Amino acid sequence: MIAIAERAGFTIAIDGPAGAGKGTLARRLADHYRLNLLDTGLTYRAVAYALLQHALPLDNVSAAETAARQVDLAKLDRAVLSAHAVGEAASKVAVFPTVRRILVEKQRDFAKTPPGAVLDGRDIGTVVCPDADIKLYVTASAEVRAKRRLAEIESIGGTANFAEILADIVRRDERDMGRADSPLKPAADAHLLDTSEMAIEAAFLAARTVIDDVLAKRNKA
Ligand code: DC
Repeated sequence: MIAIAERAGFTIAIDGPAGAGKGTLARRLADHYRLNLLDTGLTYRAVAYALLQHALPLDNVSAAETAARQVDLAKLDRAVLSAHAVGEAASKVAVFPTVRRILVEKQRDFAKTPPGAVLDGRDIGTVVCPDADIKLYVTASAEVRAKRRLAEIESIGGTANFAEILADIVRRDERDMGRADSPLKPAADAHLLDTSEMAIEAAFLAARTVIDDVLAKRNKA
């Protein structure tokens, strides 16, 4: 493995739509390069969860800001926050610029902590860490993502309707890509990884090739 130089702030930014495999890829890369890991989606989910818990409407911006200020990155509980309804709600509170500013500041502080980090989300390469050392944009067709989600639900004994899952995914994509503040889009200098016909292992190897290439050039310079 090519070592990451001992300096603060080495950052790998991973963006892409829900269900493209970026979370798994981020975890594999963080383990491999021994970097900190932040799933920034959990920060938006934590805000949404706080509002849902208090039965507050998701468009209550001042309550969302308060919840955002209270988000503690060390205490994000994936088990609680991973519910599908929380993800939907997160996509709604994520449209508020003031909420985003509060969370982005926390995410940037995290990225700066040595030895650096892998962050995954929607706006990491474009807004949170525009100077990231590596930017990846991980995508897959909506149909493939819906199939994966259906398989995931069925693997734990659940049942779901493919057409409904697909409609859900398309709606979420539209909201995340269509919002005015920090919409989901690839950074101009991002490496695109389409996982539609690629297993996660192949995506991991492709990402490593890109990263090792950058590290090799840097170590030579
Ligand atoms: O990645 P996820 O499904 O956990 O994200 C939930 C929602 O949070 C997503 O639909 C949009 C929002 N989000 C965002 O706006 N910016 C990020 N960096 C991460 C997530």
